[in-house]
Amino acid sequence: MENIDWKNLPFGYLKTDYNIRCYYQDGKWGELEVSSSEYVSLHIAATTLHYGQEVFEGLKAYRGKDGKIRLFRCRENAQRMVDSGSYLQMATPPIELFVEAVKKVVKLNERFVPPYESGATLYLRPLLVGSGPEVGVKPSKDYLFMVFATPVGPYFKMGFKPVDVMITYDSDRAAPLGTGHVKCGGNYAASLPAAVEAHRLGYATSLYLDAKEKKYIDECGPANFFGIKNNTYITPESHSILPSITNRSLITLAEGLGMKVERRPVEVSELETFEEAGACGTAAVISPIGKIFDPQLNKVYDYGCEVGPVSTKLYTLLRAIQYGDVPDTHQWVELVD
Ligand SMILES: Cc1ncc(COP(=O)(O)O)c(C=O)c1O
Repeated sequence: MENIDWKNLPFGYLKTDYNIRCYYQDGKWGELEVSSSEYVSLHIAATTLHYGQEVFEGLKAYRGKDGKIRLFRCRENAQRMVDSGSYLQMATPPIELFVEAVKKVVKLNERFVPPYESGATLYLRPLLVGSGPEVGVKPSKDYLFMVFATPVGPYFKMGFKPVDVMITYDSDRAAPLGTGHVKCGGNYAASLPAAVEAHRLGYATSLYLDAKEKKYIDECGPANFFGIKNNTYITPESHSILPSITNRSLITLAEGLGMKVERRPVEVSELETFEEAGACGTAAVISPIGKIFDPQLNKVYDYGCEVGPVSTKLYTLLRAIQYGDVPDTHQWVELVD
């Protein structure tokens, strides 16, 4: 694309040429359909609109130095959509259908896959909605699976720098036995009061605690949390945390670097002991954390204004795999050809 300023693209929506749709009706999935419309026509009583029967995914296509386009662990996203949708009693697209739809949307919008040097990527958003009409609270009989693509800019326009976050005590994004472990739209709606308040007070995002006791760390904005100390990668375990594919990958890489890994409940008080802290997810790979403000204790945990050595190493290594700069020894990458 000759006239896109790849380096200054925001993490926002930009129209591309095509998206994919696939309908589930009469108990089976139809063919993938290509659309050039940005709009969907939905029944006014569709369950997604009233009862939040909606799940989604987020992944990226990366253009390598060799010009090839790579997807990172897209089958894991496919599986997570199955897990999320099943929990909300939805019919879910089979793994192969999901992967085919994702590859197809990338191919059709190939001219929007940013060049290697730009740091930008093509963001892919698969979503699944209950499309059938119901008035009572019950699962839809019909579903619509869609995938759209939009190019997004490099997450760290100012370079890979730590951000400050704030602990939230007065709202919850997910209930203890609720939907925090699945990727449904309702979780994100519920996270907005805390996110908006954190932004208003000058923080990048909010650090969510467990809803029951407000004692353990859950998630950091729309990302998993990790801390580093004594050559150990520590990440919280809880029913209300979304299993992050980035986090799972960082765990494997940390083990490969000879680090220990602990996946367990992490108390807020343990923040004091970390040498490094960060948030991880597809959007940024790692957002290093500079400071964490605890409004209840009126206390600041300070990890410094430089990114720590372990976070830097993990970030560099994972990005290199995603862009095809180093051999893909874990078979995480799938080419789109
Ligand atoms: C709530 C939440 N946690 C964690 C993540 C990170 O998951 P992943 O690494 O699979 O992108 C995301 C983003 O998808 C998210 O929305």
